[in-house]
Amino acid sequence: MDDILLEQDTRLVFDRSKLKTIDLWSSAVKYDPGAIWMEWATTPPFFVEVGGAPQAVVTRYEDAKIAFEDHERFSNVKRPWPGTEKYYYWQGLPVVTDNDPPAHTRLRMLLAPAFSPRRLAAVEAGIKAYVGTLLDEIAAAGAFDAVADFGRRVSAHTLLGLLLGLPEQDWQVFTGISDGLSAYARLPPGSPAPEEFLKVWNAGQAYCDSLIAARRAQPQDDLVSHIIGAHDDAGKITTPELYATFIILYAGGFSSIVTYIAWTLWRLCRDPEQLALARADAAGLNGALAESLRTDPVGWTALRYATKNFNFAGLELKEGMPVIMVEGASNYDPRVYEDPCRFDLRRTQPRENLSFGAGVHRCIGSTLAKLSARIAVGAVISRFQHLRLSDPDFRPEVVGGPKERAPKAVPLRVD
Ligand code: HEM
Repeated sequence: MDDILLEQDTRLVFDRSKLKTIDLWSSAVKYDPGAIWMEWATTPPFFVEVGGAPQAVVTRYEDAKIAFEDHERFSNVKRPWPGTEKYYYWQGLPVVTDNDPPAHTRLRMLLAPAFSPRRLAAVEAGIKAYVGTLLDEIAAAGAFDAVADFGRRVSAHTLLGLLLGLPEQDWQVFTGISDGLSAYARLPPGSPAPEEFLKVWNAGQAYCDSLIAARRAQPQDDLVSHIIGAHDDAGKITTPELYATFIILYAGGFSSIVTYIAWTLWRLCRDPEQLALARADAAGLNGALAESLRTDPVGWTALRYATKNFNFAGLELKEGMPVIMVEGASNYDPRVYEDPCRFDLRRTQPRENLSFGAGVHRCIGSTLAKLSARIAVGAVISRFQHLRLSDPDFRPEVVGGPKERAPKAVPLRVD
Protein backbone atom coordinates (compact mmCIF):
# COMPACT_ATOMS: atom_id res chain seq x y z
CA MET A 1 0.00 0.00 0.00
CA ASP A 2 2.77 2.39 0.91
CA ASP A 3 4.53 1.86 -2.45
CA ILE A 4 1.32 2.70 -4.32
CA LEU A 5 0.92 5.84 -2.22
CA LEU A 6 4.49 6.87 -2.86
CA GLU A 7 4.18 6.47 -6.64
CA GLN A 8 0.77 8.02 -7.26
CA ASP A 9 -0.17 10.34 -4.45
CA THR A 10 0.26 14.03 -5.22
CA ARG A 11 -0.26 14.72 -1.51
CA LEU A 12 3.29 13.48 -1.03
CA VAL A 13 4.69 16.34 -3.11
CA PHE A 14 5.86 19.05 -0.71
CA ASP A 15 7.92 22.23 -0.47
CA ARG A 16 11.43 20.88 0.11
CA SER A 17 12.69 24.28 1.24
CA LYS A 18 10.71 23.58 4.45
CA LEU A 19 12.38 20.20 4.98
CA LYS A 20 14.73 19.67 7.94
CA THR A 21 17.08 16.72 7.69
CA ILE A 22 16.98 15.93 11.38
CA ASP A 23 16.19 12.72 13.20
CA LEU A 24 13.45 13.60 15.66
CA TRP A 25 14.09 10.39 17.58
CA SER A 26 17.89 10.39 17.62
CA SER A 27 19.67 9.27 20.77
CA ALA A 28 20.98 12.85 21.21
CA VAL A 29 17.37 13.99 21.58
CA LYS A 30 16.44 11.10 23.84
CA TYR A 31 19.45 11.53 26.13
CA ASP A 32 19.88 15.27 26.46
CA PRO A 33 17.10 17.11 24.66
CA GLY A 34 17.08 20.52 26.42
CA ALA A 35 19.23 22.63 24.07
CA ILE A 36 17.88 20.85 20.97
CA TRP A 37 14.26 21.32 22.02
CA MET A 38 14.88 24.97 22.83
CA GLU A 39 16.21 25.52 19.31
CA TRP A 40 13.26 23.68 17.72
CA ALA A 41 10.85 25.71 19.87
CA THR A 42 11.72 28.89 18.01
CA THR A 43 11.32 27.27 14.57
CA PRO A 44 8.11 27.63 12.51
CA PRO A 45 6.43 24.36 11.46
CA PHE A 46 8.62 22.25 9.15
CA PHE A 47 8.70 18.89 7.37
CA VAL A 48 10.73 15.79 8.10
CA GLU A 49 10.90 12.87 5.69
CA VAL A 50 10.01 9.44 7.11
CA GLY A 51 9.91 6.35 4.91
CA GLY A 52 10.21 8.59 1.83
CA ALA A 53 7.14 10.72 2.68
CA PRO A 54 6.76 14.11 4.40
CA GLN A 55 5.40 14.52 7.92
CA ALA A 56 4.75 17.93 9.44
CA VAL A 57 6.40 18.91 12.73
CA VAL A 58 5.03 21.56 15.10
CA THR A 59 7.28 22.74 17.92
CA ARG A 60 6.52 26.34 18.99
CA TYR A 61 4.32 26.59 22.09
CA GLU A 62 1.52 28.62 20.45
CA ASP A 63 1.42 26.43 17.32
CA ALA A 64 1.34 23.18 19.32
CA LYS A 65 -1.43 24.52 21.57
CA ILE A 66 -3.55 25.44 18.54
CA ALA A 67 -2.99 22.00 17.00
CA PHE A 68 -3.92 20.24 20.27
CA GLU A 69 -7.11 22.29 20.61
CA ASP A 70 -8.34 22.19 17.00
CA HIS A 71 -9.61 18.66 16.47
CA GLU A 72 -11.52 19.67 13.34
CA ARG A 73 -8.33 20.36 11.38
CA PHE A 74 -6.01 18.08 13.41
CA SER A 75 -7.62 14.66 13.72
CA ASN A 76 -6.74 11.70 15.94
CA VAL A 77 -8.19 9.16 13.49
CA LYS A 78 -5.36 7.28 11.82
CA ARG A 79 -4.97 7.65 8.04
CA PRO A 80 -2.77 5.43 5.84
CA TRP A 81 0.52 7.26 5.25
CA PRO A 82 4.03 5.91 4.70
CA GLY A 83 6.27 5.83 7.74
CA THR A 84 3.50 5.75 10.38
CA GLU A 85 3.59 2.01 11.18
CA LYS A 86 5.14 2.64 14.59
CA TYR A 87 1.93 4.35 15.76
CA TYR A 88 -0.32 1.32 15.11
CA TYR A 89 0.36 -0.38 18.46
CA TRP A 90 -3.34 -0.52 19.47
CA GLN A 91 -3.96 -2.92 16.56
CA GLY A 92 -7.10 -1.08 15.38
CA LEU A 93 -8.89 -1.36 18.74
CA PRO A 94 -11.45 1.47 19.33
CA VAL A 95 -9.30 3.41 21.81
CA VAL A 96 -10.25 6.91 22.93
CA THR A 97 -6.95 8.33 21.70
CA ASP A 98 -7.59 7.23 18.10
CA ASN A 99 -10.99 8.91 17.73
CA ASP A 100 -12.47 12.38 17.20
CA PRO A 101 -15.76 13.68 18.58
CA PRO A 102 -18.51 12.42 18.64
CA ALA A 103 -17.06 8.86 18.86
CA HIS A 104 -14.31 10.17 21.13
CA THR A 105 -16.81 11.79 23.52
CA ARG A 106 -18.60 8.47 24.04
CA LEU A 107 -15.39 6.48 24.55
CA ARG A 108 -14.05 9.08 26.99
CA MET A 109 -17.26 8.82 29.03
CA LEU A 110 -16.57 5.11 29.53
CA LEU A 111 -13.45 6.10 31.46
CA ALA A 112 -15.27 8.43 33.85
CA PRO A 113 -16.05 5.87 36.62
CA ALA A 114 -12.28 5.42 37.09
CA PHE A 115 -11.83 9.01 38.23
CA SER A 116 -14.84 9.69 40.47
CA PRO A 117 -13.89 11.62 43.65
CA ARG A 118 -14.91 8.61 45.80
CA ARG A 119 -12.65 6.24 43.84
CA LEU A 120 -9.73 8.68 43.82
CA ALA A 121 -10.03 9.14 47.60
CA ALA A 122 -9.84 5.36 48.10
CA VAL A 123 -6.89 5.10 45.69
CA GLU A 124 -5.08 7.94 47.50
CA ALA A 125 -5.38 6.15 50.86
CA GLY A 126 -4.18 2.91 49.25
CA ILE A 127 -1.13 4.54 47.64
CA LYS A 128 -0.10 6.17 50.94
CA ALA A 129 -0.27 2.85 52.80
CA TYR A 130 1.63 0.99 50.08
CA VAL A 131 4.37 3.61 49.73
CA GLY A 132 4.90 3.39 53.50
CA THR A 133 5.66 -0.33 53.27
CA LEU A 134 7.97 0.18 50.29
CA LEU A 135 9.97 2.83 52.17
CA ASP A 136 10.49 0.40 55.06
CA GLU A 137 11.99 -2.08 52.59
CA ILE A 138 14.17 0.62 51.04
CA ALA A 139 15.39 1.79 54.46
CA ALA A 140 16.45 -1.76 55.28
CA ALA A 141 18.25 -2.15 51.93
CA GLY A 142 20.00 1.25 52.03
CA ALA A 143 19.76 1.67 48.26
CA PHE A 144 17.14 1.36 45.51
CA ASP A 145 16.44 1.88 41.84
CA ALA A 146 13.76 4.59 41.50
CA VAL A 147 12.41 2.77 38.44
CA ALA A 148 12.38 -0.98 39.18
CA ASP A 149 12.22 -0.97 42.97
CA PHE A 150 9.92 1.99 43.45
CA GLY A 151 8.16 3.65 40.47
CA ARG A 152 7.08 0.43 38.76
CA ARG A 153 5.79 -1.03 41.99
CA VAL A 154 3.88 2.13 42.95
CA SER A 155 2.40 2.42 39.48
CA ALA A 156 1.37 -1.24 39.16
CA HIS A 157 -0.15 -1.20 42.64
CA THR A 158 -2.02 2.05 41.86
CA LEU A 159 -3.42 1.13 38.45
CA LEU A 160 -3.74 -2.64 38.45
CA GLY A 161 -4.37 -3.20 42.16
CA LEU A 162 -6.19 -0.12 43.45
CA LEU A 163 -7.88 1.20 40.29
CA LEU A 164 -8.66 -1.91 38.23
CA GLY A 165 -8.81 -4.26 41.23
CA LEU A 166 -6.90 -7.11 39.56
CA PRO A 167 -5.11 -9.87 41.51
CA GLU A 168 -1.33 -9.42 41.68
CA GLN A 169 -0.56 -12.72 39.98
CA ASP A 170 -2.22 -11.36 36.80
CA TRP A 171 -0.33 -8.04 36.62
CA GLN A 172 2.38 -9.51 34.42
CA VAL A 173 -0.13 -9.73 31.54
CA PHE A 174 -0.32 -5.93 31.56
CA THR A 175 3.22 -4.94 32.44
CA GLY A 176 4.30 -7.14 29.51
CA ILE A 177 2.24 -4.94 27.17
CA SER A 178 3.85 -1.70 28.44
CA ASP A 179 7.32 -3.15 28.14
CA GLY A 180 6.52 -4.52 24.68
CA LEU A 181 5.65 -1.02 23.38
CA SER A 182 9.34 -0.16 23.15
CA ALA A 183 9.55 -2.59 20.19
CA TYR A 184 7.37 -0.07 18.31
CA ALA A 185 9.78 2.77 19.08
CA ARG A 186 12.49 0.87 17.18
CA LEU A 187 10.26 -0.14 14.24
CA PRO A 188 11.80 0.87 10.88
CA PRO A 189 9.37 2.52 8.37
CA GLY A 190 7.45 -0.07 6.33
CA SER A 191 7.87 -2.89 8.87
CA PRO A 192 5.08 -5.21 10.05
CA ALA A 193 3.93 -5.27 13.69
CA PRO A 194 6.74 -6.69 15.90
CA GLU A 195 6.12 -10.36 16.78
CA GLU A 196 7.30 -9.89 20.36
CA PHE A 197 4.60 -7.24 20.91
CA LEU A 198 1.80 -9.22 19.23
CA LYS A 199 2.45 -12.12 21.60
CA VAL A 200 1.92 -10.04 24.77
CA TRP A 201 -0.91 -8.06 23.16
CA ASN A 202 -2.87 -11.22 22.26
CA ALA A 203 -2.36 -12.57 25.79
CA GLY A 204 -3.77 -9.27 27.17
CA GLN A 205 -6.76 -9.47 24.84
CA ALA A 206 -7.54 -13.07 25.86
CA TYR A 207 -7.23 -12.13 29.54
CA CYS A 208 -9.54 -9.10 29.22
CA ASP A 209 -12.09 -11.04 27.15
CA SER A 210 -12.51 -13.62 29.88
CA LEU A 211 -12.50 -10.94 32.63
CA ILE A 212 -15.28 -9.01 30.86
CA ALA A 213 -17.32 -12.19 30.33
CA ALA A 214 -16.92 -13.11 34.01
CA ARG A 215 -17.99 -9.64 35.25
CA ARG A 216 -20.92 -9.49 32.85
CA ALA A 217 -22.11 -12.83 34.23
CA GLN A 218 -21.41 -11.97 37.86
CA PRO A 219 -20.73 -8.31 38.70
CA GLN A 220 -18.49 -7.45 41.65
CA ASP A 221 -17.81 -4.21 43.51
CA ASP A 222 -14.89 -3.26 41.23
CA LEU A 223 -14.16 -0.76 38.45
CA VAL A 224 -14.52 -3.33 35.67
CA SER A 225 -18.07 -4.17 36.82
CA HIS A 226 -18.92 -0.48 37.35
CA ILE A 227 -17.91 0.45 33.81
CA ILE A 228 -19.89 -2.48 32.43
CA GLY A 229 -22.87 -1.65 34.68
CA ALA A 230 -22.89 2.03 33.77
CA HIS A 231 -22.76 1.57 30.02
CA ASP A 232 -23.74 -1.95 29.09
CA ASP A 233 -27.51 -1.63 29.04
CA ALA A 234 -29.14 -2.71 25.77
CA GLY A 235 -25.79 -3.97 24.45
CA LYS A 236 -24.48 -0.43 23.98
CA ILE A 237 -20.86 -1.31 24.61
CA THR A 238 -18.92 -3.94 22.71
CA THR A 239 -16.26 -6.23 24.13
CA PRO A 240 -13.52 -4.54 22.00
CA GLU A 241 -14.61 -1.17 23.41
CA LEU A 242 -14.34 -2.52 26.94
CA TYR A 243 -10.94 -4.03 26.25
CA ALA A 244 -9.86 -0.68 24.75
CA THR A 245 -11.10 1.09 27.89
CA PHE A 246 -9.12 -1.12 30.26
CA ILE A 247 -6.00 -1.17 28.16
CA ILE A 248 -5.88 2.61 27.74
CA LEU A 249 -6.52 3.17 31.45
CA TYR A 250 -3.63 0.93 32.22
CA ALA A 251 -1.24 1.64 29.34
CA GLY A 252 -1.90 5.39 29.36
CA GLY A 253 -0.95 5.47 33.01
CA PHE A 254 1.58 2.78 33.85
CA SER A 255 4.85 3.96 32.40
CA SER A 256 3.74 7.61 32.78
CA ILE A 257 3.60 7.33 36.56
CA VAL A 258 6.87 5.36 36.73
CA THR A 259 8.66 7.87 34.55
CA TYR A 260 7.22 10.92 36.29
CA ILE A 261 8.42 9.68 39.68
CA ALA A 262 11.84 8.61 38.41
CA TRP A 263 12.65 11.80 36.45
CA THR A 264 11.57 13.96 39.40
CA LEU A 265 13.79 12.07 41.86
CA TRP A 266 16.71 12.22 39.41
CA ARG A 267 16.30 15.97 38.91
CA LEU A 268 16.13 16.63 42.66
CA CYS A 269 19.05 14.37 43.53
CA ARG A 270 21.27 16.16 40.99
CA ASP A 271 20.80 19.45 42.80
CA PRO A 272 20.97 19.66 46.62
CA GLU A 273 19.54 23.19 46.64
CA GLN A 274 16.45 22.14 44.69
CA LEU A 275 16.08 19.05 46.87
CA ALA A 276 16.14 21.21 50.02
CA LEU A 277 13.49 23.53 48.54
CA ALA A 278 11.28 20.57 47.59
CA ARG A 279 11.58 19.26 51.15
CA ALA A 280 10.83 22.61 52.76
CA ASP A 281 7.07 22.77 52.22
CA ALA A 282 4.14 21.71 50.03
CA ALA A 283 4.76 24.58 47.61
CA GLY A 284 8.34 23.35 47.08
CA LEU A 285 7.19 19.79 46.33
CA ASN A 286 4.42 20.97 44.00
CA GLY A 287 6.91 23.27 42.24
CA ALA A 288 9.32 20.36 41.73
CA LEU A 289 6.57 18.17 40.27
CA ALA A 290 5.38 20.93 37.91
CA GLU A 291 8.92 21.73 36.77
CA SER A 292 9.82 18.07 36.23
CA LEU A 293 6.72 17.65 34.07
CA ARG A 294 7.95 20.58 31.97
CA THR A 295 11.61 19.61 31.66
CA ASP A 296 11.10 15.84 31.29
CA PRO A 297 7.67 15.24 29.82
CA VAL A 298 6.81 11.57 29.91
CA GLY A 299 5.38 11.56 26.40
CA TRP A 300 7.15 14.22 24.37
CA THR A 301 5.35 14.03 21.02
CA ALA A 302 1.68 13.70 20.04
CA LEU A 303 0.34 12.72 16.63
CA ARG A 304 -2.50 14.17 14.56
CA TYR A 305 -3.55 13.99 10.90
CA ALA A 306 -4.55 16.99 8.76
CA THR A 307 -8.22 16.64 7.81
CA LYS A 308 -7.88 18.77 4.64
CA ASN A 309 -5.36 20.79 2.63
CA PHE A 310 -4.54 24.01 4.50
CA ASN A 311 -1.73 26.38 5.38
CA PHE A 312 -0.64 26.19 9.01
CA ALA A 313 1.71 28.95 10.15
CA GLY A 314 3.39 28.96 6.73
CA LEU A 315 3.44 25.21 6.09
CA GLU A 316 1.20 23.67 3.39
CA LEU A 317 -0.42 20.61 4.98
CA LYS A 318 -2.09 18.02 2.77
CA GLU A 319 -5.17 16.02 3.68
CA GLY A 320 -4.14 12.90 5.63
CA MET A 321 -0.64 14.15 6.39
CA PRO A 322 0.70 13.21 9.86
CA VAL A 323 1.41 16.18 12.11
CA ILE A 324 3.83 15.58 14.97
CA MET A 325 3.43 18.01 17.84
CA VAL A 326 6.63 18.06 19.87
CA GLU A 327 5.31 19.14 23.26
CA GLY A 328 8.75 18.46 24.72
CA ALA A 329 10.06 21.33 22.58
CA SER A 330 7.05 23.56 23.34
CA ASN A 331 7.89 23.22 27.04
CA TYR A 332 11.30 24.75 26.24
CA ASP A 333 9.93 27.68 24.21
CA PRO A 334 12.04 30.62 25.47
CA ARG A 335 9.22 33.06 24.67
CA VAL A 336 7.11 31.31 27.31
CA TYR A 337 9.69 29.94 29.79
CA GLU A 338 12.68 32.09 30.64
CA ASP A 339 16.00 30.22 30.50
CA PRO A 340 14.12 26.97 29.71
CA CYS A 341 17.04 24.54 30.18
CA ARG A 342 17.32 25.51 33.86
CA PHE A 343 15.43 23.25 36.28
CA ASP A 344 13.99 25.65 38.84
CA LEU A 345 11.10 24.63 41.04
CA ARG A 346 10.59 28.27 42.10
CA ARG A 347 9.74 29.15 38.50
CA THR A 348 6.29 30.65 38.15
CA GLN A 349 4.84 28.67 35.24
CA PRO A 350 3.48 31.53 33.11
CA ARG A 351 1.47 29.17 30.89
CA GLU A 352 0.46 25.59 31.63
CA ASN A 353 3.01 23.36 29.92
CA LEU A 354 1.76 20.92 27.30
CA SER A 355 2.89 17.72 29.01
CA PHE A 356 -0.73 16.64 29.64
CA GLY A 357 -1.77 17.86 26.17
CA ALA A 358 -4.70 20.26 25.66
CA GLY A 359 -8.18 20.25 24.13
CA VAL A 360 -10.59 17.30 24.07
CA HIS A 361 -7.83 14.69 24.45
CA ARG A 362 -6.19 16.38 27.43
CA CYS A 363 -4.96 13.66 29.81
CA ILE A 364 -7.91 12.25 31.74
CA GLY A 365 -5.53 10.69 34.28
CA SER A 366 -3.68 13.92 35.17
CA THR A 367 -5.20 14.20 38.67
CA LEU A 368 -4.28 10.62 39.48
CA ALA A 369 -0.80 11.06 38.00
CA LYS A 370 -0.11 14.17 40.09
CA LEU A 371 -1.60 12.56 43.18
CA SER A 372 0.49 9.40 42.98
CA ALA A 373 3.72 11.28 42.17
CA ARG A 374 3.14 13.77 45.01
CA ILE A 375 2.65 10.94 47.52
CA ALA A 376 5.58 8.86 46.22
CA VAL A 377 8.19 11.60 45.72
CA GLY A 378 7.07 13.49 48.84
CA ALA A 379 7.42 10.37 51.02
CA VAL A 380 10.91 9.52 49.69
CA ILE A 381 12.40 12.98 50.09
CA SER A 382 10.95 13.63 53.52
CA ARG A 383 11.85 10.24 55.00
CA PHE A 384 15.40 9.88 53.62
CA GLN A 385 17.52 12.85 54.58
CA HIS A 386 20.63 11.24 53.02
CA LEU A 387 18.93 10.60 49.69
CA ARG A 388 21.44 10.90 46.83
CA LEU A 389 22.43 9.46 43.45
CA SER A 390 24.52 6.30 43.84
CA ASP A 391 26.89 7.85 41.30
CA PRO A 392 26.81 11.70 41.47
CA ASP A 393 27.44 11.94 37.70
CA PHE A 394 24.79 9.41 36.75
CA ARG A 395 22.74 10.10 33.61
CA PRO A 396 20.01 7.58 32.85
CA GLU A 397 19.85 5.41 29.75
CA VAL A 398 16.62 6.43 28.02
CA VAL A 399 14.02 3.89 26.81
CA GLY A 400 10.25 3.72 26.16
CA GLY A 401 7.52 3.53 23.52
CA PRO A 402 7.42 5.64 20.31
CA LYS A 403 6.29 8.83 22.05
CA GLU A 404 8.09 8.29 25.37
CA ARG A 405 11.35 9.32 27.04
CA ALA A 406 11.76 7.12 30.08
CA PRO A 407 14.81 6.49 32.29
CA LYS A 408 15.75 2.81 32.32
CA ALA A 409 17.08 3.02 35.89
CA VAL A 410 17.87 5.69 38.50
CA PRO A 411 20.05 4.11 41.23
CA LEU A 412 19.82 5.97 44.57
CA ARG A 413 21.22 5.57 48.08
CA VAL A 414 19.50 6.47 51.33
CA ASP A 415 21.96 5.28 54.02
C1 HEM B 1 2.69 12.14 34.35
C2 HEM B 1 1.82 11.29 33.89
C3 HEM B 1 1.05 11.46 32.60
C4 HEM B 1 1.35 12.23 31.51
C5 HEM B 1 2.53 13.16 31.31
C6 HEM B 1 0.28 12.01 30.55
C7 HEM B 1 0.20 12.64 29.31
C8 HEM B 1 -0.87 12.56 28.46
C9 HEM B 1 -1.02 13.33 27.23
C10 HEM B 1 0.00 14.30 26.66
C11 HEM B 1 -2.21 13.00 26.68
C12 HEM B 1 -2.81 13.57 25.39
C13 HEM B 1 -2.26 12.86 24.19
C14 HEM B 1 -2.73 13.48 22.90
O1 HEM B 1 -3.44 14.49 22.89
O2 HEM B 1 -2.39 12.91 21.85
C15 HEM B 1 -2.81 12.00 27.54
C16 HEM B 1 -4.01 11.40 27.29
C17 HEM B 1 -4.50 10.38 28.06
N1 HEM B 1 -3.99 9.91 29.26
FE1 HEM B 1 -2.36 10.59 30.21
N2 HEM B 1 -0.59 11.11 31.06
C18 HEM B 1 -0.17 10.75 32.32
C19 HEM B 1 -0.80 9.89 33.17
C20 HEM B 1 -1.95 9.21 32.91
C21 HEM B 1 -2.60 8.29 33.80
C22 HEM B 1 -2.15 7.96 35.22
C23 HEM B 1 -3.69 7.77 33.13
C24 HEM B 1 -4.70 6.75 33.55
C25 HEM B 1 -4.80 6.18 34.70
C26 HEM B 1 -3.70 8.39 31.82
C27 HEM B 1 -4.64 8.14 30.85
C28 HEM B 1 -4.78 8.88 29.69
C29 HEM B 1 -5.85 8.64 28.72
C30 HEM B 1 -6.92 7.59 28.81
C31 HEM B 1 -5.67 9.59 27.70
C32 HEM B 1 -6.50 9.76 26.44
C33 HEM B 1 -7.52 10.86 26.63
C34 HEM B 1 -8.30 11.15 25.37
O3 HEM B 1 -7.88 10.75 24.26
O4 HEM B 1 -9.35 11.77 25.50
N3 HEM B 1 -2.64 9.26 31.73
N4 HEM B 1 -1.98 11.76 28.62
